[in-house]
Amino acid sequence: MLMSRKSFLRVLGGGAVVAAGTAFALPRLDAMPAVAIEGWSGPASQEKDPRRRALAWALLAPNPHNLQSWAVDLSVPDTIQLYVDRTRLLPQTDPYSRQIMIGHGCFLEILAMAAAADGFASEVTLFPDGAFDATSVDGRPVARIVLRRVPGLAVDPLFAEVPRRRTVKTAFEARPLDPAHRAALSGGAPPAGLAIAIADEPAHVDRLRALGVAGSDLEMNLPRTHKESIDVVRVGAAEIARHRDGISLKGPMMWALRHAGVMTPEKAMTPGTMAFQGGRDYALAGYASARAFGWLTSAANDRASQITVGRAYVRLQLQATSLGVALQPHSQTLQEYPEMADLMAAMRRETATAADRTLQMFFRLGYARDPGPSPRRALASFITA
Ligand SMILES: Cc1cc2nc3c(=O)[nH]c(=O)nc-3n(C[C@H](O)[C@H](O)[C@H](O)COP(=O)(O)O)c2cc1C
Repeated sequence: MLMSRKSFLRVLGGGAVVAAGTAFALPRLDAMPAVAIEGWSGPASQEKDPRRRALAWALLAPNPHNLQSWAVDLSVPDTIQLYVDRTRLLPQTDPYSRQIMIGHGCFLEILAMAAAADGFASEVTLFPDGAFDATSVDGRPVARIVLRRVPGLAVDPLFAEVPRRRTVKTAFEARPLDPAHRAALSGGAPPAGLAIAIADEPAHVDRLRALGVAGSDLEMNLPRTHKESIDVVRVGAAEIARHRDGISLKGPMMWALRHAGVMTPEKAMTPGTMAFQGGRDYALAGYASARAFGWLTSAANDRASQITVGRAYVRLQLQATSLGVALQPHSQTLQEYPEMADLMAAMRRETATAADRTLQMFFRLGYARDPGPSPRRALASFITA
């Protein structure tokens, strides 16, 4: 059933009436379930294995669509072998798993920070059995990490930001990016081969915004790419608690829409429905509120470089967290499927990305209230041996 905006509001009104009878329960309707975010308090106090302690922090890393495509083997003492969980990939929108690799870089960076905070240096060997080819990931390890106790290791100040880091998907406040924040975020020394840039000149921001909106529209209107997002949307507290991954839709509004039958995966896939339009409006409000965009490019695009990008990206996001700056990536126009090629070329031009560099991450920057943490699966579900 297609629904008009008017009847949608009526449904919401109905939901409010129902909810009025249970006024005290209303704020908790479809709230984020506690079990889904228990990981954000770090390792259990009784956990003594330094590998599990570091992993408990690492799984809080940002990662594409919150798929958490990490698998670890702990069968060798003092060693963590990190693999890609190949049941959790994005073949349509991330056909070469470039973004999945970036998510692994984020994981490795937090893992190393957490181990150091516990007194352990991590010796990281990337792709110990050889790197994946350029187009696919396979069953070989991404990294072998050996933990070694070293007295007097310094704690990275960014480690304290790990539990506070958020990807902020809501609209930002109207104020521009503070020039001091812009300078701090773009003025660091990224690893060799990487470069960070931030644009806040209004006309430039408008052009970047228009490309972002066009990329989102293209992805949403191509059923095979849009489906990849819809498949991981978790609607309501029960679904979120069951999966503890993906994109969470929660809160009283979602509760009302769900109960009215307005918000279903099928409807979210169908242009013209409220569910589809609501998703687009939400994304557009985010773009509209952006006063600055930033991006990260790399000189090479081999697997090790993608890991380096992830390590740098999460450090940038943690630094933003420490400054009170909110950040949300926009990946659509950076994605390597044929229909996106023209927009990707336009985005490369607009970001002045040289022909021999790869545009790896693009994001909006601003200020927003803390949206709360996103779900994570239990540590045990990542451990394969
Ligand atoms: C490589 C990569 C690409 C991402 N692309 C997007 C994106 O296009 N849009 C978005 O809202 N978030 C994007 N994210 C952020 C994830 O959605 C986010 O990390 C995940 O949902 C977990 O939420 P959290 O970062 O708040 O813990 C991306 C993250 C990574 C590492």
